[in-house]
Amino acid sequence: MRVVVTGAAGFIGSHVADALAAAGHEVLAVDAPGRSLAPGVARRTWARVGSRPGVTAVETDLAVDALDALAAADVVVHLAGRPGVRSSWGPGRAAAERDNVRATARLLAACAGRPAGRRPRVVVASSSSVYGSAGHRPNREDDPPNPESPYAASKVEVERLAALAARDGLRTVLLRYFSVYGPRQRPDMAFHRFVEAALDGRPLPLFGDGRRSRSFTHVRDVVGATLAAAAADLPPGIAVNVGHHEPVAVRSAIGVLTGVLGVRPQIQRAAPVAGDATRTWADTERAARLLGWTARTGLAEGLADQIAWHRALRVQEEVRAG
Ligand SMILES: NC(=O)c1ccc[n+]([C@@H]2O[C@H](COP(=O)([O-])OP(=O)(O)OC[C@H]3O[C@@H](n4cnc5c(N)ncnc54)[C@H](O)[C@@H]3O)[C@@H](O)[C@H]2O)c1
Repeated sequence: MRVVVTGAAGFIGSHVADALAAAGHEVLAVDAPGRSLAPGVARRTWARVGSRPGVTAVETDLAVDALDALAAADVVVHLAGRPGVRSSWGPGRAAAERDNVRATARLLAACAGRPAGRRPRVVVASSSSVYGSAGHRPNREDDPPNPESPYAASKVEVERLAALAARDGLRTVLLRYFSVYGPRQRPDMAFHRFVEAALDGRPLPLFGDGRRSRSFTHVRDVVGATLAAAAADLPPGIAVNVGHHEPVAVRSAIGVLTGVLGVRPQIQRAAPVAGDATRTWADTERAARLLGWTARTGLAEGLADQIAWHRALRVQEEVRAG
């Protein structure tokens, strides 16, 4: 299969590109590392992704230019965008609009512009944040949207565009990812900040009181769901939750994380982030039924995996520094 992966210099995209190449697919990796929240990290990942056999890397800002080559694929996995609730307030709002909404509109138009029968299937990254805070049951895909931040609102708009394109004959599928973690996690995300602080011997920087809970989902499981969606014949425009079925409170996750690290939890609290859902909770019936997918990685195992990555990175940096 010829697969385009956008956002391939990013956390999830680099894992998806690796997995597709390892499975023998021809991968066209697309990114604009300068648009990343962490451009230095993205540039390093980009260089590594581009040197992988089976991967061709093309640097393109999708908000400006949607490559023709992109639409000539069998499947497009669209993971490029501006993630994060916190960074979407203030000046970040325009970036969320540009890199989520405008870039997706261009990409969908390029794919829909192909002759019928030669249009790619398009898997689009959405987010649990479209639901807002979950109540006393897991969120199902047909629950109404309730965006609580500019980031969430941009993803609701991305979903609307993908649903419209589906009505126009494009086979789109929306994957609503829930709090993804694991090796290469973005530096702005909670577990990344916690592990780095703990390894430095600093207190863990916690927004709020730690009672918020999340369907934390390991990136290995996320890649599994994404590849399954790329290969499946799903009803066009459908949304599928990609999240662990058991939410965990952030303070419990800190207990697990410091337990794996073998350190005493020390916390430095900061004010909660506006728009941060009090709870995310994935109903996974649809993913199980349509993709044969369930998250398999438990938090202790998954965090051990992420911690090992942070440690390996530190060793590499020490070697580089001589
Ligand atoms: N990580 C999570 O927990 C999570 C949860 C829900 C949804 N998502 C969504 O999944 C996708 C991937 O998330 P991630 O955590 O890997 O983020 P990431 O920031 O690591 O990766 C996104 C990549 O997109 C690229 N990009 C941004 N704007 C671009 C543009 N205009 N043109 C080309 N490339 C551009 C960036 O350079 C970056 O490498 C995003 O759409 C995000 O909103 C992520």
